[in-house]
Amino acid sequence: MKTLRMFALCSLLALALTRSNAQTKPDPSIPHLQKKGAATQLIVDGKPYLALAGELRNSTTSSQDYMKPIWPRLTAAHLNTVLAAVTWELLEPQEGKFDFTVVDNILKDARASDQHVVLLWFGSWKNGKSTYQPLWMKTNTVRFPLIQNEQGKSLPTLTTLSENNRDADARAYAALMRHLREADGGKHTVLMMQVENETGVLDTPRDYSPAANRAFNGPVPRELMDYLQAHKGRLIPQLNQAWQAAGFKTSGTWEEVFGKSIVNKNDWQAYSYFTEEIFMAWNYARYVGQVAAAGKAEYNIPMYMNTWIKQPISGAPGQYPSGGPQPTVMDIWHAGAPAIDIYSPDCHLTNFTDWCAAYTQSGNPLFVPESAGDATGAAHALWIFGRHDAICFSPFGIDGNSGTNTPLSRVYQLVSTMAPLILDHQGDGSMTAIVLDKDATSETVKLGNYNIEARNMSRTTGPVTNPPVALFICTGPDDYVIVARGLNIYFTSATDPSDNVALATVEEGVYQNGKWIPGRRLNGDETPEWKAMRFGADTYTIQHVTLFRYR
Ligand code: DGJ
Repeated sequence: MKTLRMFALCSLLALALTRSNAQTKPDPSIPHLQKKGAATQLIVDGKPYLALAGELRNSTTSSQDYMKPIWPRLTAAHLNTVLAAVTWELLEPQEGKFDFTVVDNILKDARASDQHVVLLWFGSWKNGKSTYQPLWMKTNTVRFPLIQNEQGKSLPTLTTLSENNRDADARAYAALMRHLREADGGKHTVLMMQVENETGVLDTPRDYSPAANRAFNGPVPRELMDYLQAHKGRLIPQLNQAWQAAGFKTSGTWEEVFGKSIVNKNDWQAYSYFTEEIFMAWNYARYVGQVAAAGKAEYNIPMYMNTWIKQPISGAPGQYPSGGPQPTVMDIWHAGAPAIDIYSPDCHLTNFTDWCAAYTQSGNPLFVPESAGDATGAAHALWIFGRHDAICFSPFGIDGNSGTNTPLSRVYQLVSTMAPLILDHQGDGSMTAIVLDKDATSETVKLGNYNIEARNMSRTTGPVTNPPVALFICTGPDDYVIVARGLNIYFTSATDPSDNVALATVEEGVYQNGKWIPGRRLNGDETPEWKAMRFGADTYTIQHVTLFRYR
């Protein structure tokens, strides 16, 4: 009986994988990703889409009543997309019996509020631990085993090295996606799925259960070796370095191929354990990749994963979730989980711009599912749409901090009115952005025929709590649209340094239905000496400038 059930499950997964592979070409009638030059766009109902989003706190969607007053607030704050949790424990309270009440409530109320949603599958893992698997799993750790640390102690985290764990998750996720196809396949309220939440193991650099030890001391799987060889020269530098330092071997154990980490079990937090992290990344990727593939076989919309990113203070893997899709191991994830389309940073803390750069390596599209929703978050939202052709910006805990008169709601309002222009300029090098969120008081970028310098005129020092920011769109040879706050902008020639550049016309204005509606014509004190465009510190505004040259 047990063998029969095992066989049935394996056949189900094999079928799911075959169907998913057969479906790798996106169905253009449902939400899907599409390349536009260097950018990747999310296409919804035939048009590219910018997700001006916010993520709800973890337990919010479990009560429809609790959510009732929140939906209209989100719409009033100019959000068009809500990231909302669907939890395994409520979806499958008894094994094999699915309850879609939470999902159906989200669909109904989102539609009534004119919102789209991205659903977060809180399945096997949440913030590096396992808290959302149903109780019938939690209470049966023989059938659904946990990770062990080096001392053999079980940690509250499902091991990736269990087919039972993986198959149970894949079955529940597939049921959810089947339901979404039936309930939303024609309406497209749900745009994308987040598979799991912040994977990786905490409090140990790797799984030391007997199954994990066997796998760690065994050979690196052929699929991974083939991927590394096929991508040699294009791998992310840290992984490439580890492989190179161990001699670019084409087979061997994990320690032979990636090197033996310097380890110290009494003081493990002080060491790098990169080989252990690579091993964990592969095992999480295989597991989550198969869960995602089982879901895609039912309903093939884009799927991403979010990451608890390594902060400078947390040195060893295990102090941050070891094996999650950090940029340093993103290649391992690409190899192990082809059904995942995007890897995302949860950017709550510092170095926002650096993390965005790290997560756009190897052509990974930028989707920020969690960040700050304050004035700094507002500046970062504008910046990622201009600088990185981002698909989504989403502060965490939006049910607690959305307001109609905040810097974020202002940015979302302006970006939503000019979304067609922004989307049209993605991927072709005609759009960029600057944010002064570190110590610098100015930055210069080249765009089109001009160098553009943005200067922070208030020149404050110390922590930046409301960073000046500008998004630039080059709309013609001498013609720019700029959205900004707290900056003066200066143009110089990028083609002939002996040309003087001056402002020809400057209009303040707004976009309505994608059309420019001019307001004040700016001159005199508002554009000193024909040279400086001024964007006040109080709020975000849009200006349209044309330039001329003289000698
Ligand atoms: C990151 C997680 O992904 C979220 O679900 C939430 O727990 C936040 N941390 C809390 O800050």
